[in-house]
Amino acid sequence: MRLNQSLKQVLIQEEQLRRKIEELGAEISEDYREMLGEAPWERPPLAVGVLRGGVIFLADLVRAIDIPVGYDFITVSSYGNATSPGELRLLKDLVDPVEGRDVLIVEDIVDTGRTLQFIQKTLHARRARSLKTCALIDKRARREVEVELDYVGFRLEEDEFLVGYGLDYAGLYRNLPYVASLKPGCSTGIDA
Ligand code: PRP
Repeated sequence: MRLNQSLKQVLIQEEQLRRKIEELGAEISEDYREMLGEAPWERPPLAVGVLRGGVIFLADLVRAIDIPVGYDFITVSSYGNATSPGELRLLKDLVDPVEGRDVLIVEDIVDTGRTLQFIQKTLHARRARSLKTCALIDKRARREVEVELDYVGFRLEEDEFLVGYGLDYAGLYRNLPYVASLKPGCSTGIDA
């Protein structure tokens, strides 16, 4: 059994990810260098990764940024289920306060937009000095709330179920090094 047996199509190859993340890192570094002037060591921006999907993207992105940057993680969970999404709540909070920090929220994917909107509101209420967002994938087909994205890796129009590079189906496939769609009816590599 191989993990890739259940895949329909690889949509974003490893090399495309690598190149795009290099570009994003350079763009982010340039923007923050300009914003922070001579003081990046005094108040380094904080990259906030959204667990669990965002961890792989965050790990690669911060290594493509060449100004001082801290990172922390947040977990958001929904009370609802697949057919009726419920209220969002914080399942795991950040370790450090964000008041006065320049915060960059790092998401693997923005789908309905609800998770990102919740995090933006939460961190805004905590008086972050500035709040920007970076999403590897902007999937607009199921967008429910408008959210502002400052940095976007890939825009996907199709409503495909995506796995890999942090994205999961039932907790699996996150460790694929690329982003792919699943074959219809496939869930785990075992039944492929
Ligand atoms: C995924 C993804 C985003 C969120 C986006 O996380 O990592 O955080 O969904 O969806 P939305 O725009 O519709 O709110 P998920 O809740 O599946 O948890 P996970 O990161 O642990 O996979």
